[in-house]
Amino acid sequence: MKRIIIINGVNLGELGTREVSLYGNITFEAYLQILKAKFPQIEIDFYQTDQLGDLVEKILQSKGFDGIILNPGAYTHTSIVVADAIKAISVPVVEVHISNVSSREQFRKNSFIAGACLGSVSGFGLKSYEMAINYFLD
Ligand code: DQA
Repeated sequence: MKRIIIINGVNLGELGTREVSLYGNITFEAYLQILKAKFPQIEIDFYQTDQLGDLVEKILQSKGFDGIILNPGAYTHTSIVVADAIKAISVPVVEVHISNVSSREQFRKNSFIAGACLGSVSGFGLKSYEMAINYFLD
């Protein structure tokens, strides 16, 4: 069975109550149960942290997975260390964003991690995660 891990970064622990018009009103834990039911053929791990160092450490520790689905939150737009961590491992990483980062503020248009990832999914709400999982199915 394929094993993937979803890694969420800063402020994503607040999903469900945070800026609901942008990010929706369900918690990630609740959405994870939906994902697991939708993809019984894949083992889905999950990790969330607000700490940049912990985020990097988790990426580096995820060498044993078949894929990583990564939403670093605002670290996407600020952090070279996340990109370097992705480049340090050979596991394929798909960048995910709930909101459409290209249609928002100028500073969100830059992703330091995009070039280090296999590809990016952005703007489909929580469904962005589902679309990324689909990549790993075959
Ligand atoms: C986000 C987009 C980021 O710009 C923002 O800082 C987030 C969430 C998203 O999933 O849409 O925290 O990564």
